[in-house]
Amino acid sequence: MAAELIDGKKVSAEIREKLKGEIADLKSKGIEPCLSVVLVGENKASQKYVASKEKTCNALGIKSIAHKIPDTTTQAELIAVVDRLNADPAVHGILVQLPLPKGLDEKEVMNRISPSKDVDGFGPDSLGKLMLDEPGFLPCTPHGAMKMLEAYNIDPGGKHAVVVGRSIIVGKPLALLLLQKHATVTICHSRTPNLKEECLKADILCVAVGRAKMITGDMVKEGAAVIDVGINVNEEGKIVGDVDFDAAKERAAYITPVPGGAGPMTIAMLMYNTVMSAKMANNLPVDM
Ligand code: GUN
Repeated sequence: MAAELIDGKKVSAEIREKLKGEIADLKSKGIEPCLSVVLVGENKASQKYVASKEKTCNALGIKSIAHKIPDTTTQAELIAVVDRLNADPAVHGILVQLPLPKGLDEKEVMNRISPSKDVDGFGPDSLGKLMLDEPGFLPCTPHGAMKMLEAYNIDPGGKHAVVVGRSIIVGKPLALLLLQKHATVTICHSRTPNLKEECLKADILCVAVGRAKMITGDMVKEGAAVIDVGINVNEEGKIVGDVDFDAAKERAAYITPVPGGAGPMTIAMLMYNTVMSAKMANNLPVDM
């Protein structure tokens, strides 16, 4: 049996289309949603991600202001940029692209972003709200993964979900979101013994490790839904996920492709957070 593809391109296009309407509505009220992205240094992957975010902003009518600053920028200078954006009422979302160049303190920078503009959802206020099941900015990649499950009517309730990876950006928040939807959740990581056995219990298997073919076909339960969050470049220079797609698709019932799965969803959810932030700043009702 070959799995049904979870088409992140299609699901994200639907979300973007809905946002376009909401943005037009905000503009008719004199509100222009605005995302400010801060890129420090010359990391090629980061440059690509930032360009992609800018392009999507432009396509939807979100104002995009990129601050591209050199890797010689000091911690104090970077904090001053964040402070300036925090204080600017025209800016609704602030995103400092990670990783930062060596010598800069990521934690201090991320914690400096105003909780009301934390569209990445990585700050302590956003993550605390997620832990408390309170509405707030959700980290974009895990939120996108949940939206893909929802779009294919895959209800985590009563299922066994296994999340491989425990990062703040994906693994931990995704585990909480699955728990919120009443899944029984196991989080696996580099020190998990018997990773294969754990994965084989997964009705929903989410992988966010950053290593090509980390998950082989024999680690996938028959009929599972597989969400692959990895973005890796293989020996042939091709972009691949963390899951051996060709083998896994023979056992799974649903699987996300890479590219075309979690990637476009992440950007769509960033746009969603930016629009939510613009609404909140103007005391308009939001659906978070
Ligand atoms: N680097 C890789 N992914 C992300 C992301 O989602 N947000 C930020 N700020 N940096 C990243």
